[in-house]
Amino acid sequence: MKSGSVFVCQQCGHSYRKWVGQCTNCSAWNSLVEQVVEPELGKKSAIEKGKASGKKLDFVKLKSVVPSDAKARLKTEFDDLNTVLGGGILMGSVSLLAGQPGIGKSTILMQICAEVAKEHDVLYISGEESAGQVKLRAERLGADSERLNFAASTSSNDIAKTIESGEFDLVIVDSIQTLAMDEIASAPGTVSQVTNSGNLIIRAAKATDTAVVIVGHVTKEGTLAGPKVLEHLVDVVLNFEGDRYGGFKTVRAVKNRFGSTNEVAIFEMTSDGLKEVQNPSAALLAERTNTDGSVILATLEGNRPILVEIQALATTTNFGYPKRTASGFDINRLNLLIAVLERRTKLRLGDKDIFINVVGGMKLNDSAADLAICMAIASAVAGRKLDEKYVVFGEVGLGGEIRSAFRADQRIAEAKKLGFLHAIGPATVHDKFVIPAKDLRETLIRYVK
Ligand code: TYD
Ligand code: MG
Repeated sequence: MKSGSVFVCQQCGHSYRKWVGQCTNCSAWNSLVEQVVEPELGKKSAIEKGKASGKKLDFVKLKSVVPSDAKARLKTEFDDLNTVLGGGILMGSVSLLAGQPGIGKSTILMQICAEVAKEHDVLYISGEESAGQVKLRAERLGADSERLNFAASTSSNDIAKTIESGEFDLVIVDSIQTLAMDEIASAPGTVSQVTNSGNLIIRAAKATDTAVVIVGHVTKEGTLAGPKVLEHLVDVVLNFEGDRYGGFKTVRAVKNRFGSTNEVAIFEMTSDGLKEVQNPSAALLAERTNTDGSVILATLEGNRPILVEIQALATTTNFGYPKRTASGFDINRLNLLIAVLERRTKLRLGDKDIFINVVGGMKLNDSAADLAICMAIASAVAGRKLDEKYVVFGEVGLGGEIRSAFRADQRIAEAKKLGFLHAIGPATVHDKFVIPAKDLRETLIRYVK
């Protein structure tokens, strides 16, 4: 390819000769950024020569290989986070901590550094903040180890070189969006900078068995390609989610080469950093007042059962289309459930504005939340309460039938632990605690009174 410029989609990395408004590969709008193409190295490719140009690989007997899991793991001070990581941060692993700006990435990493630096040499590299700023945070979080070092840099070449020195057991890179490689002309944060910088750092980490955690910012919609491209390269991808202002925040592994992806750690931001929430159900239910439109859902966060309050509010639409808003729940799913309610239960919702709120800033990703959402809406519309000693779970089908929910036993156990007397759940669950619900209409008539 001649040198010149190409237009690269910042969502998926697809490149075009000419600018177009929508990427044909991933359908993202307005995501192309012009990038200068470096002249190619000019070697004839193997395909043209019709012959393999590489050398024979050195292979080993798999039986004789020491599993990388046998390597040491760096423990963080958070037990649940260690579980999410599969037992701690593995030496030589590269992790990506992705989350919205301001959610607490720098905070949690400084807390991790503080703990690890008690016994290991740690380097915190920031491209966003000065030593003075980071020091302020470190002081607040009680990080005062002699072995905790800091460097401000935005050069991935320098960072890779520093990692290669092998002086550190743990290196934090905050954040990948600020890094640039000397050899690449495009701006920091573009796909080529992120991919190449990431590769450089990963190679250095693997060569010296250094554990590296890279920070990646994502916007609310998960845009900004950086972290998306990087996800394929790193060993572990941690998603830091939740409300930026108050509420619970969760860290879960969406990819983990050395552990399960079903675990989740739940945090709360306090004046001295992030704290793990030991009993989220109790905390979430502490301020509950049983009004109409309030239903307790037995849900799962990863492998953990959690009880969370769902609130619904229904008001008469004053003007135009009825408005439907959901915080913590998928709006499309809400619209679908409203349609099911209208069609299958004779509940009139066409002239109602409906608002759903999941208390505590939790984001539900559980199909068994359906029944609780439907009951909350029905309760709000009818102005009638549900018995406060009931929890609810179950998926609602388009026919208004209640379908089974996975891990029902765990949900039930959590509800019992917190003093609930019964669960309204799918009829497939055989447990005395569960009052079987088969059909949405029947269930609403019986329990919303
Ligand atoms: P930060 O970790 O800088 O977010 P990120 O690196 O993801 O952009 O901090 C997030 C917010 O947390 C910030 O607005 C200030 C607040 N905060 C606390 O409430 N308590 C604390 O002890 C610290 C360090 C930060
Ligand atoms: Mg930060």
